[in-house]
Amino acid sequence: MDLKDYNIDMKKIPKHVAIIMDGNGRWAKKRLMPRTAGHKVGVERVRDIIKAVDKLNIKYLTLYAFSTENWKRPSDEVGVLMQLLANYLKKEIDELDRKNVRIRVLGELDRIPKKVREEIEKAIIRTKDNDNIVLNIALNYGSRLEIIRAVKNIVEDCSNEKLDIERLDEEKFKEYLYTEDQPDPDLMIRTSGEQRLSNFLLYQLAYSEFIFTETAWPDFTEDEFFKAIELYQNRNRRFGDIK
Ligand code: IPE
Ligand code: IPE
Ligand code: MG
Repeated sequence: MDLKDYNIDMKKIPKHVAIIMDGNGRWAKKRLMPRTAGHKVGVERVRDIIKAVDKLNIKYLTLYAFSTENWKRPSDEVGVLMQLLANYLKKEIDELDRKNVRIRVLGELDRIPKKVREEIEKAIIRTKDNDNIVLNIALNYGSRLEIIRAVKNIVEDCSNEKLDIERLDEEKFKEYLYTEDQPDPDLMIRTSGEQRLSNFLLYQLAYSEFIFTETAWPDFTEDEFFKAIELYQNRNRRFGDIK
């Protein structure tokens, strides 16, 4: 299937798409494989979705890779997830850079193993001037933590007289979030059937369209993504207004 086989209006493309890549473990279990096998195949889909995002001219893509709650998982699984991320960056950085992708991280890098953190920091620095696509990797990310961190920094800036509390409005508050200068997601997709946010972008998703699909992340191909964009384009976004 080619892009022209879909009913996609190139003038109504979402600027920012956020994805909760869920269901790797269940996908693998169904095939009598270890959970980590699902994570490995999941990385392939990341590659496909970035290609699709490039074709559609979507400017911001946020991928939920690891939540602040995912540390509760067995350390073997956490280790594999971290290693997969480092390998992905090592292997894909040339191609990402060629596609003019800027890599950013939403979340706290302090708890990320040193080797992995170094790979991430290298990728961030190398791609910092790229301006075709912003790829946000939500890593050790939790929305509640993000909001608490914002409040702490606001209080600090107020006491240093860098910020006048009277001037704190939505626009100003936004600057204290990891997504700072980025537009809010127009569309949030969660794969694998769960219909919850799991601490993902609580503030930024206030007016986003949500699509929940039964498809597990390792099966979420370009075809599934294009179909999600078609669905999105049929939604009527009112933002509180009428019509
Ligand atoms: C998503 O798949 C990947 C991460 C959370 C890192 P899961 O590992 O959550 O897979 P399920 O939901 O258990 O099937
Ligand atoms: C959310 O998925 C986090 C990521 C996809 C990285 P989880 O699988 O961790 O969420 P819950 O536990 O089902 O809510
Ligand atoms: Mg899950």
